Amino acid sequence: MNKKLLSLVLVAALAMSLLAGCGSKEEPKATTAAAADTTAAAADNETEAPADTTAAAGDETTAAAAAGGNTTGETIKVGYAQVGHESDWRTANTKNYQDVFSAANGYELSFVDCDNDNAAQLEAVRGFIQQELDYIVIAPIETAGWDTVLQEAQDAGIPVIIADREIDAPDTLYDAWVGTNTKNEGITAANWLAEYLDGKEANILVIEGSVGASATLGRTEGFNEVAAEHSEWKILDSQSGDFTQAGGQEVMESFIKSYEGQFNVVVCQNDNEAYGAMDAMKAANITYGVDGDVILISYDATHDGLQYTLDGAINCNVECNPIQAEVVAGVIQAMATGGSFEKTTLVNDQAFVAPGIESEYATTMTQEILDGRAY
Ligand code: AHR
Repeated sequence: MNKKLLSLVLVAALAMSLLAGCGSKEEPKATTAAAADTTAAAADNETEAPADTTAAAGDETTAAAAAGGNTTGETIKVGYAQVGHESDWRTANTKNYQDVFSAANGYELSFVDCDNDNAAQLEAVRGFIQQELDYIVIAPIETAGWDTVLQEAQDAGIPVIIADREIDAPDTLYDAWVGTNTKNEGITAANWLAEYLDGKEANILVIEGSVGASATLGRTEGFNEVAAEHSEWKILDSQSGDFTQAGGQEVMESFIKSYEGQFNVVVCQNDNEAYGAMDAMKAANITYGVDGDVILISYDATHDGLQYTLDGAINCNVECNPIQAEVVAGVIQAMATGGSFEKTTLVNDQAFVAPGIESEYATTMTQEILDGRAY
């Protein structure tokens, strides 16, 4: 085990023991899962999280900072400009922030649900600047349009952490980034499909996430990169379902009208879209999942998505881990106490497949895995 990896293991173990003993109201399962599933990774000053980053958290990061508890003795005011409430993933992510940045943990959290509205999100960040909060956390709805407001935060001397999704702005305009590698998620989904099909033809329909979101761009890019290596695959169509169940259903209904009988793979870029797509296929008497005519791939691996995977309705579900607030709090603690922190921290993802499927890219679902899920 190299020195950095060893230090990560030690920090994670210490963080888990602190979390277990700190009297938080969270269920023990939830705190354990959050600590265990989170890998801090360094990728010096890169805006896009690289696929192969495995380095550990800074050696000097304190255990208390890794656990997220505020050790400064003074309440820290944090603003979180959240994307919205479009999906189960988002609900889990919001709860994670509210649990970690609680008054009991020494924080005052100003939370704004931006309802997928870019203007509202910029307004929320400007509101945090006006209120002179200590730290600003942004889960950016879209990658574009951040330079001006980030410059305003920097001019006001307020550190900014970009979380969950990525932005298209110079990394000198923000202090840290914490999130998942969505391009890798797309690559994993496509690699699994190639393994499962073993050379058979694929006629693929894609229900994308929200337009302009890095989660959409990354998953699409990763999937398409692998798809380009398979001349036996054809992407028939790719439309946005806006990461919602209603959007997924609407797009699937229109796909069925245009392509009925022509497709054998549906890729939904999150679980909620997959629920909508399943409703649309059911209504059209199209079978899906391990016993069906259509292979169904989803992303997020939230609790209900994994239940469908365990039931065989979703063939493969690629995780996007929403439990990120502990890492963000660790970065804030390091900033507040003059400790070191990584500019870029990746949160670990894994993929799951339905029972009966064996894969080198994904874990076969069991009831035990589902029971151990905190979100
Ligand atoms: O940015 C993460 C994505 O946003 C999740 O996949 C999706 O469910 C959410 O809305």
